[in-house]
Amino acid sequence: MNDTEYYRLVRPYEDAMSMLLIRIRVLGHSLYNKEEEQLYHTIQSRIKTKDSIENKLKKKNLEASEKNAKDYLRDIAGIRIICLFLEDIYTLVELLTRQSELVFIKEKDYIKSPKKNGYRSYHLIIGVPVYCADAMEIFPVEVQFRTMEMDLWASMEHRILYKASPKTDSEKIKEELMLYSEKLGELENYFSTFR
Ligand code: GTP
Ligand code: MG
Repeated sequence: MNDTEYYRLVRPYEDAMSMLLIRIRVLGHSLYNKEEEQLYHTIQSRIKTKDSIENKLKKKNLEASEKNAKDYLRDIAGIRIICLFLEDIYTLVELLTRQSELVFIKEKDYIKSPKKNGYRSYHLIIGVPVYCADAMEIFPVEVQFRTMEMDLWASMEHRILYKASPKTDSEKIKEELMLYSEKLGELENYFSTFR
């Protein structure tokens, strides 16, 4: 993929992501007026880099082409919504998936069923229609919903294991990370009593 192909590929994903971000922000405005009752704390978003797209396709044993990226990747556009309270995650998911025009593609609920390593998060792939002059096409956007505790854990786990030198005792770290995932879940439950 050259630069021209990359920019041509990601353009509509950027548009889809922008439109979804606006819908999420509007939901935040219209539902609650008071700042202390905001449904989410922060929103982050990113478009996958050219390198990251190519590496992911190679890992899947696919040629790193524009067409394969479109056919096989659903996280070219990614939004992460960080909430203070776990219940807010499900409220947001419910409100978003109910909106007309947005297409529910897939969910992965790692909150109800955490991954073996302790990872918790709610993932949703939403299809967003992008209209151009004479056509409409649905583009997927991956939305990850997390509490601050989930985000702290996932960001740390990513940082620690990604940057780990071969010398580190990763088995021990993995055990401890699992334990702290549970502890952070307890902290979340405690804070939830203040919702
Ligand atoms: P990917 O190929 O990694 O995109 O996985 P997938 O297509 O099976 O999707 P899944 O919904 O399981 O995970 C998508 C994204 O969630 C990843 O790209 C990460 O951002 C995040 N994620 C999933 N598992 C973990 C994990 O164990 N640790 C951390 N830190 N992040 C994770
Ligand atoms: Mg991914």
